[in-house]
Amino acid sequence: MKKILIVGAGGQIGSELTVYLRSIYGNNNVVASDMRVNPMLAETGPFEELNALDIPAYAAVVAKYNIDTIFNLVALLSATGERNPKMAWDINIGALVNSLEIARRFNCALFTPSSIGAFGGDYPKDNTPQDTVMRPTTVYGVCKVTGEMLSDYYFTRFGVDTRSVRFPGIISNVTLPGGGTTDYAVEIYYEAIKAGKFTCPIPEGCKMDMMYMPDALRACVQLMEADPAKLVHRNSFNIAAMSFAPEEIYAAVKKRLPDFSMTYDVDPVKEAIANSWPNKLDDSCARNEWGWKPEWDLETMTDDMLKIIAEKHAKGLI
Ligand code: SER
Repeated sequence: MKKILIVGAGGQIGSELTVYLRSIYGNNNVVASDMRVNPMLAETGPFEELNALDIPAYAAVVAKYNIDTIFNLVALLSATGERNPKMAWDINIGALVNSLEIARRFNCALFTPSSIGAFGGDYPKDNTPQDTVMRPTTVYGVCKVTGEMLSDYYFTRFGVDTRSVRFPGIISNVTLPGGGTTDYAVEIYYEAIKAGKFTCPIPEGCKMDMMYMPDALRACVQLMEADPAKLVHRNSFNIAAMSFAPEEIYAAVKKRLPDFSMTYDVDPVKEAIANSWPNKLDDSCARNEWGWKPEWDLETMTDDMLKIIAEKHAKGLI
């Protein structure tokens, strides 16, 4: 990776991945792009206003900067997707297909995240294997499985260096996620600091895989830098760090903020989505093929999230 383009850089992952990649590869070697200018990202390196569905504009940016690696982070998340499935398909698949075509034409490596949302149907929910039944029941999941298959197709058919991970719910403190089923695990920290109470849309006992952003960022770089000869899989690797249900993250917050309280007001759409997703992924293929290993767990993440969000709150930033 020498000249990197991030498409959809203004989102939850992109806003931090841009900064992380610039710290490793140099500010000028990481081009951030999104539909709207993101002043924070435009200050520290090249930024392009780009709609990933506009293929000539996308190709022009890749040519202008002589890009060799693309991170395609354009996506509507699961709950938003259920409100407008056609739009979710058009955006998620449109950006993917354009990224694959451009990667083929300009000989770029391509990373497009998949998700725990790719699972569904009759598969093992505990220690969900790398290779298993994938019959997702959301349009978001249908897009992710399609993305995995099409990315493998571009690798075997055209030799495009496509790689991907199935991200768990990602927890972070810079940019809020939007419209995801796992968003509650971010919101709970903000509400704990701001209001001292939280209403949880996910039912008690519903476990999902989650990951702290620093681990997610490391996974992206580690996989893209991995020796291709060692990769048996490509699109896409299960990766895991922690798995918890709402009452467990609540207990972790309450241990640190004893006055914190949580009630439930279950959102039936999110409940159905969450119930169709794994309880806990088996990530042994990622560990064996490219050395994946998480560094954060629920306890260390909770310490860090509460500290950073409390600082932001004290400064009036949130
Ligand atoms: N965080 C995503 C969502 O909840 C899953 O990948 O939609």
